Amino acid sequence: MLIPDIIIAIDGYSSTGKSSFARLIAKEFGFLYLDSGALYRGVTLYAVEHSLIDDGNRIDSQALGSALPGLDLHFVAEAGENRLYMGDRCIEKEIRSLAISRKVSPIATLPEVRAYVDRKLRELGRQKRVVIDGRDIGSTVFPQAELKIFMTAEPEIRAVRRMKEMQGKGEKVRFEDVLANVRERDYIDSHREVSPLTRAADAVVLDNSRMTMDEQMVWIKDLIAGRFGNAGSDGDRAGFPEPDNTRR
Ligand code: DC
Repeated sequence: MLIPDIIIAIDGYSSTGKSSFARLIAKEFGFLYLDSGALYRGVTLYAVEHSLIDDGNRIDSQALGSALPGLDLHFVAEAGENRLYMGDRCIEKEIRSLAISRKVSPIATLPEVRAYVDRKLRELGRQKRVVIDGRDIGSTVFPQAELKIFMTAEPEIRAVRRMKEMQGKGEKVRFEDVLANVRERDYIDSHREVSPLTRAADAVVLDNSRMTMDEQMVWIKDLIAGRFGNAGSDGDRAGFPEPDNTRR
């Protein structure tokens, strides 16, 4: 399917499968996939490696703020993936570790860090034909994005997905603990002072509680065809209903 040069913003709650969905969309339409969470994780790795965050998650925000302009975080396309590098070092694996996952939330609340990540994303998004996932992409980073999706799913279902993911990595976890963590992250993400997780007014909600990835792809293709089919001018958009995402 041919679609025009647009920005697709995918926001939503944690463990809704945003990045898997965004990756597939990028592949399907030949877009660049940008993982905004990876940039927050990259900054966190830098902070950890330079002892700018301690065990109690206290951050030396002044030192971190001064280091940010010199922090060379960039994506490199390798083996069909967009991998994050710090200078000439690939940091994809390190940024996904539990140690970084535990520290990224407080780092992501810092206004100077958010400004740094926003600037990088805006530079990369200038070329259009990008799909970006995060928490504040449609509301704050790219309010002009032509297509905004807000992903959600029932907390219990997200907890099951997350538990399976963790069990797949050999971690022993209890459902109640994972569910509590899902709810806690929802709360932190939605209540932080700077750029909280909010649904942009013009975002289309996708509740994938009972949808497979294949069904989600059909859903988005219908949505895109409706909005941007026939060369996708604004005039073409009028009158197309949004696809029904409650389909089971
Ligand atoms: O999507 P993720 O788990 O890789 O995100 C890592 C952290 O970064 C998570 O705590 C939320 C935060 N984040 C954010 O605040 N804003 C974004 N646009 C993306 C991620």
